[in-house]
Amino acid sequence: MPKMRLDKLLANMGFGSRREIKADVKLGKITINDITARDASVVINTEVDKVQYLDELVEYKEFIYIMMNKPEDVISATVDKHDQTVIDLLPQKYAALSPFPVGRLDKDTQGLLIITNNGKMAHNMLSPKKHVEKLYYAIVEGDKLNANDITAFKKGIFLEDDQYKCLPANLSIIEANDKESKCELIIEEGKYHQVKRMFEASGRKVTFLKRMSMGPIVLDKNLDLGEFRELNAGEMALLEQYL
Ligand code: URA
Repeated sequence: MPKMRLDKLLANMGFGSRREIKADVKLGKITINDITARDASVVINTEVDKVQYLDELVEYKEFIYIMMNKPEDVISATVDKHDQTVIDLLPQKYAALSPFPVGRLDKDTQGLLIITNNGKMAHNMLSPKKHVEKLYYAIVEGDKLNANDITAFKKGIFLEDDQYKCLPANLSIIEANDKESKCELIIEEGKYHQVKRMFEASGRKVTFLKRMSMGPIVLDKNLDLGEFRELNAGEMALLEQYL
């Protein structure tokens, strides 16, 4: 039976510190099964007991799964001394569950970031053994992208001084002219600055980068930059293999 102290449950779900919750209990703001709670340390069953904070039903969740459309200038980390992080964009009710981003996007990269507090799921999605495909939309400067580039990416691009050969990647050219090319790239790896380094190795410079999908999770087009939402039941079913 999943048991937890009332003050811990409410603190975990972002309703305040344990001290604040103790005060709220004294003020009669919390009910358990429609009866006003009198003791913040009472142990409840998170599966069956109905806990309400004022009129709000408190739904206990151990894990959270969020997709965010990461904007530029925000860091894919939990804390940072100088910059705003993706976690800073979340309300307290999520932040209280200690979420972290699944992998990183560069400061100047936009797009899909999955944020969770399920370490196992994050580990599985990031494991090189799982070959999770990431789809990026990129704008690159330099010579027009062409069929030779598609072949080279498919064979495996050599990064810096032939030190590392990337796994085969799928490049699709959307639009290309002599100044810049728009394309999509699917990679199975997640090395540091990987997409930028792959294009650099082919003599181009990435000027815009956005992640559109990660494994089975596709960025919701209704999310503006900086917006986020919890994954829905359909998306959670697709993630089942990583949980
Ligand atoms: N590749 C990069 O170069 N940057 C990112 O943010 C993600 C993939």
